[in-house]
Amino acid sequence: MKILVTGGAGFIGSHIADAYLNAGHDVFIIDNLSTGRRKNVNERALFYEMDIRDKAVADLFAEQKFDIVNHHAAQMDVRLSVKDPIYDAENNVIGFLNIVQNAAVNKVNKVIYASSGGVIYGEQDYFPADEDHPQRPYCPYGVTKLIGEKYLFYYAVTFGLKYTAFRYANIYGPRQNPHGEAGVIAIFLQKLFRGEQPVINGDGRQTRDYVYIDDVVNANVLALSKGDGEVYNIGTGVETDVNQIYDVLNERTRANRPPQHAPAKSGEQQRSVLAIRKAASQLGWQPLVPFALGIDKTVAYFEQNELQEGGAKS
Ligand SMILES: NC(=O)c1ccc[n+]([C@@H]2O[C@H](COP(=O)([O-])OP(=O)(O)OC[C@H]3O[C@@H](n4cnc5c(N)ncnc54)[C@H](O)[C@@H]3O)[C@@H](O)[C@H]2O)c1
Repeated sequence: MKILVTGGAGFIGSHIADAYLNAGHDVFIIDNLSTGRRKNVNERALFYEMDIRDKAVADLFAEQKFDIVNHHAAQMDVRLSVKDPIYDAENNVIGFLNIVQNAAVNKVNKVIYASSGGVIYGEQDYFPADEDHPQRPYCPYGVTKLIGEKYLFYYAVTFGLKYTAFRYANIYGPRQNPHGEAGVIAIFLQKLFRGEQPVINGDGRQTRDYVYIDDVVNANVLALSKGDGEVYNIGTGVETDVNQIYDVLNERTRANRPPQHAPAKSGEQQRSVLAIRKAASQLGWQPLVPFALGIDKTVAYFEQNELQEGGAKS
């Protein structure tokens, strides 16, 4: 099949592009390299350095006639979305619509969409949150991710455009960008390998559900043929707090640095963990990579990366 992966130079999108190529598909990538990196782009993919808001997107759709669109390009910095909700919406609503409207007009078979289970539910009423949990995003990024799901429903009903939306937990693994507000595992690892002191915000008892990138990729492979018209949580159902993450990484990197705490960030969500029964029963999906193994692979990647780049800005 001809598959367009938006955000294919980024952390998650690049791994998905690799898997689709390995399965024998023709993969096309759109990415503006705002947070993604050229070196993540698989050389067997056709790469367009292009913004999802660009008018040229329409020409590309008309020319290539994609079978599937896997949409991972987004502004995904929670704090930036609070500071500049207009920029967030330009990327995550207008850019999103530019992709999905062109998919509908050009009769793409299906759109696979990266939503967020970490922010859509807000402070949870119960643990773990299933897909029916009330949706109360407390940041503009969560609002725009949820709007994407609503638009997909509209396009499915009105244009017959199939979709699957994944509400991801906190994903970690090789290629995660350690800058900005990205995953705490990537941020801590880069600092530990550079001999810098990571800082834990608040008491470090905030929990998240950490799922390894390979498991997320598997869900995106399954969605090529399953899960039409559905929204699925993708996580592990296991809560881990920041102190635990710090201890594991401090030990695995042999950095031997006692944890340091800073004042809590106001408005930070306290607990987040996702129920994954729906993806298990309908997609036959399970998280297969144990936390210890995922951490080892991630540590090995960051160690190698820091050696190669000599601690230069990556
Ligand atoms: N990492 C997580 O834990 C997580 C959790 C929930 C949802 N998500 C979603 O998964 C997707 C991918 O996240 P990621 O962690 O790989 O982040 P990432 O920043 O590594 O990847 C995003 C990619 O999109 C590209 N991009 C951003 N804006 C663009 C634009 N306007 N035009 C073209 N390209 C653009 C970036 O250059 C980057 O390569 C995002 O949609 C994000 O909201 C991620």
